Amino acid sequence: MDKQILIDTVQKLLAGDKGLLAMDESVNTCNKRLASLGIPQTEEARRSFREWIITTPGLNESISGAILFDETIRQQTKDGTSFIEVLKKAGIIPGIKVDKGAKPMAGFPGEKITEGLDGLRERLKEYVQLGARFAKWRAVITIGENTPTNACIDSNMQRLANYASLCQEAGLVPIVEPEVLMEGNHTMAQTFEVTEKVLKALFNQLYLQNIFMEGILLKPNMVIAGKNAKTQNSAYEIAEATVNCLLQSVPAAVPGIAFLSGGQSSQQASERLNAIHKYFSRKLPWVVTFSFSRAIEYPAIEIWNGEDANVEKAQKALYHRAKLNATARRGEYDAEMENDIL
Ligand code: 13P
Repeated sequence: MDKQILIDTVQKLLAGDKGLLAMDESVNTCNKRLASLGIPQTEEARRSFREWIITTPGLNESISGAILFDETIRQQTKDGTSFIEVLKKAGIIPGIKVDKGAKPMAGFPGEKITEGLDGLRERLKEYVQLGARFAKWRAVITIGENTPTNACIDSNMQRLANYASLCQEAGLVPIVEPEVLMEGNHTMAQTFEVTEKVLKALFNQLYLQNIFMEGILLKPNMVIAGKNAKTQNSAYEIAEATVNCLLQSVPAAVPGIAFLSGGQSSQQASERLNAIHKYFSRKLPWVVTFSFSRAIEYPAIEIWNGEDANVEKAQKALYHRAKLNATARRGEYDAEMENDIL
């Protein structure tokens, strides 16, 4: 393992007040987003969507790395430039989602296990050749009446550590993403308890498998009540719970934490990231940033609506959203800035 390569990539990803853009929706998930807007679900529509994202002027002011999907890493702009080249030219580091999705876990109704370890060593080699410098694997944990089970947590965390080990061998920084889902009516306290347990299980596995802690990034959920919970908490309360939960369970040797948005609105995600920095920055031993998908792509994708004529407006909205999150990373975001868009 070349530790210096990993450290260099991590430092570039965490530089300034930038964050990551997760534009790595699988074909299925991307098609669902397009379908919800009435856009045809074709390879060309997905390519075109990704092209205007990565060619957004000034995106590199707020975005240090972009996570791509297998289809996307091989695509080109209309004028024949590979997406990887476009990103590199802009100084945005290309990354790649390498898991093959969360599938129903046999014997554990309502729970999921992420697949994708078979042949992963070879796939990673190809992604490195294509230009990727970091990778992502997402495990999902569901809070329900009888879930999550220890079996689901342990199996998923073991696989995350297997994946991280193969990535570090290949010279790719692994983003480890154990997502405790927002679906459900659980309280914020329940999310805290489950997230803490999951993160402890994850780091136990990462230690067992000799993962080089300075060469990973953690992509967790914020500690938020379920979407259907009666009580929803303030940004301050969420920030406090999130920071306390992470302090209990994430070693200081981890260089960076980049949150997923998980179905929060774009504004909520910015407000909560901002509150973490505004009120608790002194407590944070890690760099704390964002790795949002929906919370950056919306509302720009709605403005685009599949029409070339709307691309410029959509790019402005994307640029603005990314900027707001970079501002939140400094703890300087204000809801009034939502209207600053030109
Ligand atoms: P969201 O920010 O939309 O939750 O997506 C983040 C992600 O990369 C999920 O794997």
